[in-house]
Amino acid sequence: MTATSRTTASGRFPAAPVPGLPADFRWGVATSAYQIEGAVDTDGRTPSIWDTFCRVPGAVAGGENGDTACDHYHRLAEDVGIIAGLGVDTYRFSLAWPRIQPGGHGPANPRGVAFYDRLVDSLLERGITPWVTLYHWDLPQELEDAGGWPARDTAHRFADYAELAHAALGDRVRHWTTLNEPWCSAMLGYESGVHAPGRKNFGDAMHAVHHLLLGHGLAARRLREAAPEPLELGITLNLGHATPATDHPADAAAARRADGLGTRIYLDPLVHGRYPEDVVADLAARGVTLPVQDGDLAAIATPLDILGVNYYSSHQFSGSAEDGSTTGDDGLPVVRGVSRGLPVTDMGWEIHPEGLTALLLRLHRDYGLPTVITENGAAFADQPVGDGTVPDSDRTAYLDSHIRAVAAARSAGADVRGYFAWSLMDNFEWAFGYDKRFGLVRVDYPTQRRTVKDSGLWYRDTIRLTRSA
Ligand code: FCB
Repeated sequence: MTATSRTTASGRFPAAPVPGLPADFRWGVATSAYQIEGAVDTDGRTPSIWDTFCRVPGAVAGGENGDTACDHYHRLAEDVGIIAGLGVDTYRFSLAWPRIQPGGHGPANPRGVAFYDRLVDSLLERGITPWVTLYHWDLPQELEDAGGWPARDTAHRFADYAELAHAALGDRVRHWTTLNEPWCSAMLGYESGVHAPGRKNFGDAMHAVHHLLLGHGLAARRLREAAPEPLELGITLNLGHATPATDHPADAAAARRADGLGTRIYLDPLVHGRYPEDVVADLAARGVTLPVQDGDLAAIATPLDILGVNYYSSHQFSGSAEDGSTTGDDGLPVVRGVSRGLPVTDMGWEIHPEGLTALLLRLHRDYGLPTVITENGAAFADQPVGDGTVPDSDRTAYLDSHIRAVAAARSAGADVRGYFAWSLMDNFEWAFGYDKRFGLVRVDYPTQRRTVKDSGLWYRDTIRLTRSA
């Protein structure tokens, strides 16, 4: 079934125009390569750190992997038809680095590039703007073997890859995002080890932060130099609005630390060309120095056109453990997320749209960049019903409240230019495997049948009504 085969969202949650969003507001859906493509050893693609990580016993729920995923590599035409049926003007997707440049070095792989050629061309034929993310976590395994993101050379390899990708697609693609969520790459990949490559060392994670930012900056420069026409160049960060749980000074310190390692360690160098002093001091107290060399900060601060914001939830922080102590077993100050007691999604993430409004206003005030919501959405364990529909009103309510939160931020002065729902379709949700469903479109994995959920129909109607209001 495609989005065009039914005409209403069956009245369960009627769509309405969203006041405060202009006619030229950008509407999209988002995916990433490893989560949907499958075809992991097709047409010259080599393994990424996620192919390797999925083979580690216990790393991914159910021992699942992205070998087939949504088989998007072979179902591109059908999927672009579904995207068009949703009435969006933009599709955000990522390029698999080991498809474009197997092994992370050497020339571009024409067979890998051909897939993205077809994708970009079919989007453009339908009037949909391709919004390319260069890196959504699938580092070529060879580069991890050579040290991964904690190693400085990876930043240079990334810049080379960015240039190859731009040479292949830059005649048709104007919107480029360098990295998706470097916090996740660094902290989940190298500190907690719950994401690929599964290393657990805080110092390595901090070195990864700097080299991800350096890779971004070097790539941004290369793209600007190579582009015959102006690009819209950005980076996407996962952000929340960190607040203290109470007015106790220890809670204020915990929120400051969370904001420091979650937001300011990225945005201060990207926008202001320097790392935040309090974060540098906190790192020094932990025996960690960021591996900054001459010229790095100037590269990192290459001007951005747009900041991509991925928003799912916001946390409040306490500086004391449940037993009241303000120092953990590791001797470090406690930084503990505490529940607001709000309803949660299937990920256990609290639903807090007000945090998105507050975040967008804070970003506007402190960093002044135009923003696009490059991901927002919710996992719920929705099920098809007898008539073949998927009545996912929880997801629709989540999307509705967050789109309205964006409109509220705009009305209060934040320069927010677009909203992309995560995700186009159910997909491989990293360490959670296929259990967590974020799609506007249901994927029945055994048959690969796609069904537009009620939230997808609601989204289509909301876009249409808002554009014409
Ligand atoms: C973000 C990721 C995206 C998806 C959503 C749920 O952190 O960028 O790939 O997993 O979370």
